[in-house]
Amino acid sequence: MKVAIIGANGQLGHDLVTAFRDGETVSLTHRDIEITDLASTDSVLGKIRPDVVINTAAFHRVEDCETEYAKAFKVNGIGAANVARSAEKLGAAAVHISTDYVFDGKKRKPYVESDLPNPLNTYGLTKLSGEYYVRNLCSRHYVVRTSGLYGLAKCRAKGGNFIDTMLRLARERDELRVVNDQYFVPTYTRDLAQKIKELVTSNHTEHYGIYHIANYGQCSWYEFAARIFELEGLKDVNLKETTHQEFRSKVMRPDYSVLGCDGIKSLGLKPLRPWQDALRDYMSLRNK
Ligand SMILES: NC(=O)c1ccc[n+]([C@@H]2O[C@H](COP(=O)([O-])OP(=O)(O)OC[C@H]3O[C@@H](n4cnc5c(N)ncnc54)[C@H](OP(=O)(O)O)[C@@H]3O)[C@@H](O)[C@H]2O)c1
Repeated sequence: MKVAIIGANGQLGHDLVTAFRDGETVSLTHRDIEITDLASTDSVLGKIRPDVVINTAAFHRVEDCETEYAKAFKVNGIGAANVARSAEKLGAAAVHISTDYVFDGKKRKPYVESDLPNPLNTYGLTKLSGEYYVRNLCSRHYVVRTSGLYGLAKCRAKGGNFIDTMLRLARERDELRVVNDQYFVPTYTRDLAQKIKELVTSNHTEHYGIYHIANYGQCSWYEFAARIFELEGLKDVNLKETTHQEFRSKVMRPDYSVLGCDGIKSLGLKPLRPWQDALRDYMSLRNK
């Protein structure tokens, strides 16, 4: 099976390259392919002739998506459509990475694949448009929704992950205020990449559709920060809880975007481990 990975030097892309290293893998960075340009996408993928294309590319700085909404739609919507179109022409399967931010958070129970999306912001809206394009344009598609990613490779769009930010701010500030009223699941890109590999290489390859893949459990951003400091052995960080109103973000985010991974379970695939176990492994590798 020949697998092309778009965004191969990104946070998730890096771990996908590792997960698929036993097979024939082609790593594509932004220098190699421009997904907003159909000619570039067709030409690059046409030369590779992959069996599977995994698209991790996105414009995902959530606040910037509000002001640069045309760019957000171009990358997250049209870009996803171009990859799906090219994959379909080649008879390849398309794996599209999407987000928990397609949901509005009103459910207050883990969102499963059959729940109706209702994004609250431009990022979520444009990612949802990408999902619909992929489902509509490529008959062999996997739309993989995930949440709160962190990995050993830096997130290219954000220059790091939440853990990097918390550890930096703990050094710089006397007091740290983190929201304690928005719940999600932090997800380790290494676990996600491995499960994507299992999904596309298992005997279930005819089960195309939407899949939620995230570590197990849930926490608020405050609880996540507290666990990071605990694992790092930082006992004297002055961590205070706050609310999203007090934090005054310019963008609406779901208060609850925990993903329930029913789809992979129904295929007999093992769900991902609890987020606390994944974070412990990440922190020990990060500090090596
Ligand atoms: N990070 C999260 O917490 C999170 C949560 C849920 C879902 N997701 C989704 O997960 C996916 C992967 O996230 P990540 O954190 O691994 O992202 P990342 O580190 O920013 O990597 C994205 C990769 O895509 C490339 N790229 C961006 N625009 C492109 C374009 N127009 N054409 C071709 N390549 C392009 C980037 O290259 P350059 O940097 O050189 O432009 C980079 O290699 C995204 O689809 C995101 O929406 C992320």
